Amino acid sequence: MTIPCCFFWHLLQGPYEPMDLIEAIKTRKSIRAYLPKPVSKEILQEILALSCQAPSGVNQQPWEFAIASGHVLEEITKRNIELLTAGAPQQRDYPSHDKPKDSVYRKRQVALAVQLYQALDIQRDDVRGRFDWLLQGAAFFGAPAAVIIYTDKALPEAGPLIDIGAVVQTLCLGALPYGLGTCIQNQGVQYSDMLRQVLNISENKRIVTSISIGYPDFSHPANQIKTGREPVEKLSSWYGF
Ligand SMILES: Cc1cc2nc3c(=O)[nH]c(=O)nc-3n(C[C@H](O)[C@H](O)[C@H](O)COP(=O)(O)O)c2cc1C
Repeated sequence: MTIPCCFFWHLLQGPYEPMDLIEAIKTRKSIRAYLPKPVSKEILQEILALSCQAPSGVNQQPWEFAIASGHVLEEITKRNIELLTAGAPQQRDYPSHDKPKDSVYRKRQVALAVQLYQALDIQRDDVRGRFDWLLQGAAFFGAPAAVIIYTDKALPEAGPLIDIGAVVQTLCLGALPYGLGTCIQNQGVQYSDMLRQVLNISENKRIVTSISIGYPDFSHPANQIKTGREPVEKLSSWYGF
């Protein structure tokens, strides 16, 4: 599948057309393999400017970005892989939590893993294959650029997260008209001390997540999956209709 980028192109310059937005929302999916083709700084600047159109509480815009490419991204990747291979414990500013056992959240997580590992032909007992895939994630799936998103410790810990969710989704959608794919990656920020050091991010900032970005390799099996969603009827209660 290729993203019909010219189809979305006028989103950037023409009037707002709801159908195109619907198509963009439906087209976006996590991209976990990229072509070895650089993305220009100008394009990344345009996409970041678009993403900053996201709403935020009292327009506080609690987001900041470090964009890494070239030798800097190579350094981060190398150190991520070294740390992961050495079994270094994660030091995320927003720690990940195990999903409650038997919960629907855990079931959905497992369903994603099954879908992905089936596509990649990695068997359940293939510990090496699974670890190699983790290393791919630590390498931002070969993307030519990665955006690290952080916020300010002066704000309450959970306070900016809705705003940051909005900027992240806007970035992922805004990348589509440029023919670019993205993957939001918490695994890209699992070693926050290392990122702080390489990217010179102050101790006053909380690193939230990362997004790999690049031209998708649609021939890769990881990019052939499309995840499902619960039907809205299961998730919603309606009143006064
Ligand atoms: C906050 C957040 C963190 C994520 N972290 C990772 C990650 O570390 N690695 C990864 O492969 N995908 C990651 N994802 C992508 C999700 O797995 C993906 O969005 C979900 O499975 C739905 O699939 P879709 O994006 O293709 O629609 C993350 C998504 C979000 C929103």
